[in-house]
Amino acid sequence: MKQPRRGERNVAYTVPKLKEFSPTALDKAVEKLLSALEQESSELGNGDERKAFRDRWLARKDGILTQINELWLKPAPKDAKREVGQRVNKLKGEVEAKVEAALVQQPGINSEFAIDISLPGIRRPIGAEHPIIRTQNEIISVFKNLGYSVAEGPAIETDYYNFEALNFPPNHPARDTQDTIFIAGQESKPQRDRLLLRTHTSPVQIRSMEKMKPPLRVVCPGKVHRNDAPDATHSPIFHQVEGLAVDTNITFCDLKGTLDHAMKALFGSSVKTRFYPSFFPFTEPSADVQISCIFCDGTGTRDGAPCRNCKASGWIELLGCGMVDPNVYGFVGYDPAKLSGFAFGMGVERIAILKYGVDDIQLFFNGDVRFLEQFG
Ligand code: PHE
Repeated sequence: MKQPRRGERNVAYTVPKLKEFSPTALDKAVEKLLSALEQESSELGNGDERKAFRDRWLARKDGILTQINELWLKPAPKDAKREVGQRVNKLKGEVEAKVEAALVQQPGINSEFAIDISLPGIRRPIGAEHPIIRTQNEIISVFKNLGYSVAEGPAIETDYYNFEALNFPPNHPARDTQDTIFIAGQESKPQRDRLLLRTHTSPVQIRSMEKMKPPLRVVCPGKVHRNDAPDATHSPIFHQVEGLAVDTNITFCDLKGTLDHAMKALFGSSVKTRFYPSFFPFTEPSADVQISCIFCDGTGTRDGAPCRNCKASGWIELLGCGMVDPNVYGFVGYDPAKLSGFAFGMGVERIAILKYGVDDIQLFFNGDVRFLEQFG
């Protein structure tokens, strides 16, 4: 017998009226229907043809399954109704499953091999470490090498940890130096329990001393927020790495030596440091640390013109530090008569900007891949 070519169909199957309702007659009818379905599924092409195939078999209004109801079940004599009903039901399930299965198979591909394992896999581009995280890790590793461990605290803090325990009394004007973003709806709580976005990582000093007995050396990296309008040098979100060392007989010399070493490790051994008097409520005495300008080697002039990076001063201000104020020990149950220590805090963006020559802090946060992929 001549085999029909692909796409050229035998006379399409139509549901016959049954003359007889005996089991053998039903068997035959079912067999014919299923082989027609088999044939049609194997010849399925793409797109429209597949939709038409589905409608032809399953459409509610005039699909083959509906016709079976009309032509086989309804006219069945009373005594055969039960038998015919059961068969029709079983057949319906079978046809539905077969039609759906035929539709998920790719035309022309044996379903068993629908995945071609000889094709190359999907390559996902490998991301780069974000420059802020990278710089943060670099800073941390400098201090890890000096024996510091890493501590973290929450970015949403209470007034107590962010201010009070750091010796900022309620309503003290020193609080105004850190434009704070407060969480709304906290008025019913006592002031010290009210939540805010931490303005610095210094609260982790308090949390660490509450948890650990002296001697203690920790660095605390993390996100901080201030209510600053974003521009090239300001961002309402940025990162800091805090440091705290408490022991007996720790002196300002230790602080100077530690930070001088850290700056040399981060910016190169020719960098000099200078400590400039400053004020923080939680350190006394306090200092701002400046490094010799890495763009003009501290000379203040570059290519015969005043250096723009240090405003011709030869120095760049980089971080705050000081000896832990004895009042702070009072909040954590440390004995100020026996202990001394120092603390420091540095801005990660600021260090990254200097290290990588970035001219706009916003670049770190707006997710432009062209910027970020340079750090891959
Ligand atoms: N927390 C201070 C700030 O954000 C920096 C600092 C940390 C100063 C530790 C002294 C000691 O401005």
